[in-house]
Amino acid sequence: YDYDLLVVGSANADLVIGVERRPAAGETVLGSDLAVHPGGKGANQAVAAARLGASTALLARVGDDGHGRLLLDSLRSAGVDTVGVLVGGAPTGVALITVDPSGDNSIVVSPGANGRLTPEDVRAAGSLFHASRVVSAQLEIPLETVVAVASSLAPDSRFVLNPSPPRPLPAVLLAACDPLIVNEHEAKVILGDSAIGDDPEDWARILLAKGPRSVVVTLGAEGALVASKDGVRRVASVKVDAVDTTGAGDAFTAALAYRLGTGASLEEAAAYAARVGAAAVTKEGAQDSFPTAEEVDAL
Ligand code: RIB
Ligand code: NA
Repeated sequence: YDYDLLVVGSANADLVIGVERRPAAGETVLGSDLAVHPGGKGANQAVAAARLGASTALLARVGDDGHGRLLLDSLRSAGVDTVGVLVGGAPTGVALITVDPSGDNSIVVSPGANGRLTPEDVRAAGSLFHASRVVSAQLEIPLETVVAVASSLAPDSRFVLNPSPPRPLPAVLLAACDPLIVNEHEAKVILGDSAIGDDPEDWARILLAKGPRSVVVTLGAEGALVASKDGVRRVASVKVDAVDTTGAGDAFTAALAYRLGTGASLEEAAAYAARVGAAAVTKEGAQDSFPTAEEVDAL
């Protein structure tokens, strides 16, 4: 394989303002100076994997504009192969992000060019799929495009999905996931009416019964649960001081996908990914905060 990881997904310019608290409807609050960071769940995953040493490609769409160039610069300086980054058709996606003093964020995304990444674009990138050991995706691009990704995989390659932002998923997509990676909010949306009780171990089991070959439920500072036919196991996290959680979930997914491709077990890959995610919350921004392999080892 030429690539350890092919990421298919979004690329956004993140417009970030620090706030003491978020405004209620009809209210105005003053915040910090504006920061513009390269982001988007797809580009974030690609940069996170490349920074860990994975040979990585991204299939995405950006606009022919300054935000698009910001993203291409960030991807290239991390070492991501941008041959699959299509340019034009709509402005680059934008995420309006507020970060509060605890490091938690709220995000509104305008998909822009991400919304124009089509199933045809996926089919036209067939050679990338054949060259990739693991393929990962998220849901900031059209759902039919993600379904096309799941049906374009090379016979021995593995598909990892973080359904974010969450929505109910077709059975054909669930069946392709190995693993499906969700946080608590995403688990509840995907389970819908079948979400029973507050025990994440139950959610992991019920999600697994919906068809994925494996499931990971991330629990923030509490670590993660991994579920497969071998049962449900808990993976610990690393305690850190949170500065900005933006992109930490993307770094987790990318690290897990990369490690699975190198032959790690699901449990080993999730434990490593938890360390990568923890490192990412200690710095501002998404892509700018992702660690190298050496920084993860030092944690
Ligand atoms: O997961 C974090 C990302 O979500 C941000 O970078 C923002 O662009 C939104 O896509
Ligand atoms: Na961060």
